[in-house]
Amino acid sequence: MIARRSVFAGIGAHLPDRVVSNADLAQQVETSDDWIVERTGIRRRHIAAAGEKTSDLGIAAARKALEAAGVDAGEIDMIVVATATPDLTFPATAARIQAALGVTRGFAFDVQAVCSGFIYALTMADNAIVRGQAETALVIGAETFSRILDWSDRTTCVLFGDGAGAMVLKAADAATVGDRGILSTYLRTDGRFHDLLYVDGGPSQTQSVGHLRMQGSAVFRHAVDHISEAMIEAVARAGVKMTDVDWFVPHQANQRILDGVARKLSIPPDRVISTLADHGNTSAASVPIAFDVAVRDGRIKPGHLVLMEAMGGGLTWGAALARI
Ligand code: ACO
Repeated sequence: MIARRSVFAGIGAHLPDRVVSNADLAQQVETSDDWIVERTGIRRRHIAAAGEKTSDLGIAAARKALEAAGVDAGEIDMIVVATATPDLTFPATAARIQAALGVTRGFAFDVQAVCSGFIYALTMADNAIVRGQAETALVIGAETFSRILDWSDRTTCVLFGDGAGAMVLKAADAATVGDRGILSTYLRTDGRFHDLLYVDGGPSQTQSVGHLRMQGSAVFRHAVDHISEAMIEAVARAGVKMTDVDWFVPHQANQRILDGVARKLSIPPDRVISTLADHGNTSAASVPIAFDVAVRDGRIKPGHLVLMEAMGGGLTWGAALARI
């Protein structure tokens, strides 16, 4: 049997037009630009327009990724959308995106792992490609967290934004692609910490959508340890060293978490892609949005070893290592 590998083919991202600055938020809740920048590094976030759905953001990101990859939508046979803010409870947002792209083959489904969603979705797509169940996969992180924020709660509403990112993966014969492709993935969940970060509504429990609730400082304490563990595991599983990694693409939650992980693992800060100042925490969309920025500005280049990581509600966490 031919050993298969999932190889990166292209990336795209989309942020809604409307930008809300920290100063804008300070008109709504008791906060300040200084407080938000000092505690998080976030300066602004993009907020979806009325009627603009998670699928709309995902479709726009997907089109850019397909264009960057030089792949026709008709070639896609697997779509995985990581989202905690689907258009509807069902069908999956992935099915809506599939139809909008004109894809009529293969399969499409959503993954729910909150801020870790993109790493989970990428892992599902990689597993399917390696197993021969898909040839060309579209992995999307898309969110409209603005719809589940309590805009009167200054401890959460300043942190999040809306957006989407998408990555195209293609199946390749491992013997011909050298060390390119997804080299390892690592996923973890610990549901005992459910109450640190959750939404207080849902179809079964409350028959409502609910609002995001978070114990911020407790989440912060878990983040550095879990993210570091995931990165160490992903690197070990691929048989490489942390110092071999060219670029770190973290979930864009908070600059202090990024800095804490870099310090703990002795990673030079200039190897860590940070884009959160411009869009805040876009949950499952944040890794592909940051990845897209770094590909388009020329930092991430073919041949580079890239380590992606995330942690989120669940708690969930994980990492994926790829040579581009
Ligand atoms: N503006 C001004 N003051 C605020 C604000 C605000 N937006 N939010 C909270 N405060 C106040 C608090 O009320 C508190 O006041 P008090 O001392 O009078 O009670 C004070 O600031 C300190 O509050 P803390 O919660 O202790 O502040 P902390 O330094 O922990 O920072 C923060 C809060 C930014 C939320 C931090 O805990 C954090 O980033 N946690 C991680 C959360 C996160 O990133 N979650 C995203 C999902 S999970 C993930 O993606 C990894």
